[in-house]
Amino acid sequence: MGKAVLPSTSDLTTLETDILQEIAEAHDLNALENTRVAALGKKGRISALMKTLGQMAPEERKAFGQSVNKIKLTVSEALDMRKADLAHAAMSERLATERADITLPVRPGALNDGRIHPVSQVMDEITEIFADMGFSIAEGPEIETDDYNFTKLNIPKEHPARQEHDTFYLADRDDGTRLVLRTHTSPVQIRTMEANDPPIRVIAPGRVYRCDSDQTHTPMFHQVEGLVIDEDTHMGHLKWVLEEFAKSFFEIDNVEMRFRASHFPFTEPSMEVDIRYSKRGDELRIGEGDDWMEILGCGMVHPKVLEHVGYDPKKLQGFAFGVGIDRLAMLKYGMPDLRAFFAADLRWLKHYGFRTFDVPTLAGGLSS
Ligand code: DAH
Repeated sequence: MGKAVLPSTSDLTTLETDILQEIAEAHDLNALENTRVAALGKKGRISALMKTLGQMAPEERKAFGQSVNKIKLTVSEALDMRKADLAHAAMSERLATERADITLPVRPGALNDGRIHPVSQVMDEITEIFADMGFSIAEGPEIETDDYNFTKLNIPKEHPARQEHDTFYLADRDDGTRLVLRTHTSPVQIRTMEANDPPIRVIAPGRVYRCDSDQTHTPMFHQVEGLVIDEDTHMGHLKWVLEEFAKSFFEIDNVEMRFRASHFPFTEPSMEVDIRYSKRGDELRIGEGDDWMEILGCGMVHPKVLEHVGYDPKKLQGFAFGVGIDRLAMLKYGMPDLRAFFAADLRWLKHYGFRTFDVPTLAGGLSS
């Protein structure tokens, strides 16, 4: 076998130029792939060069190997760049030619059959209304410490309000403390104030738990907490916010409200709010008639609660409120039995649920 003719440096330069030109001229991803295989593939031109290494004198081999590796690198980079360019061009072409008509009706199928639960719908409505007034959303855990659920809210041990809450307790912990399933969303007030500097303007919707069950009570239900803290926030603000909320939520111009003196350990003064309504047969009408229905509790945040989170009650004040979401949903959408909310009966959900794309907005109408 005769001695093979070994490639020279100028051969290498020509090869590199050739390949780079092929890459530049590859007009689609397929052509580019063919170019890659012809250059770097097992039987490609660059791989073939590597095979000639074995026939070289050791001192030549090193320099030649380095040159080939350099070409390999340059070619690989050029391939990658061209590939990205071609992919981008292909995508631009698709975007320019393919069109989806988003005005077409939704096809029958899961999306059309599924329903949003009235509680989720009402939560979205409430969020939309308060977001429009500049509130943000706060969250807290459903498994709470005794301390956050009660003590920091000015409900010390042995306080009678603890009994009223029918609390689900978890087993005692080693340090003698115990966790509870939160009985209200009010602990989120504490967590929010601890984690943020005033001014504060939040709502906190979520699940709460009490050991109770009849036509209007279930062991798990939903509340939304509201909290506003600033230097000169007063009861006029509280009243305005709640009135605006009621009008938007019930989608009527005038919802008459009655603020009744009440007692909550974490507010002073405390009030319960009733709205005027009438009932004819099964039909409820909000804003008219001679009956009053309680819908929420509220008040000015108790100075002790502010102290517990390290706020100075001489400088800061504000209001809080707590609303039962399920109760509001029953009122607005005329569902008589709360237990049905959580029975997972698809017929009920089909009847009372909302279509997936009926997202409540103030502009588009909350419930339509
Ligand atoms: N946490 C109270 C409850 O579950 C409701 C409540 C009343 C919340 C007054 C408040 C408030 O924030 O100010 O019965």
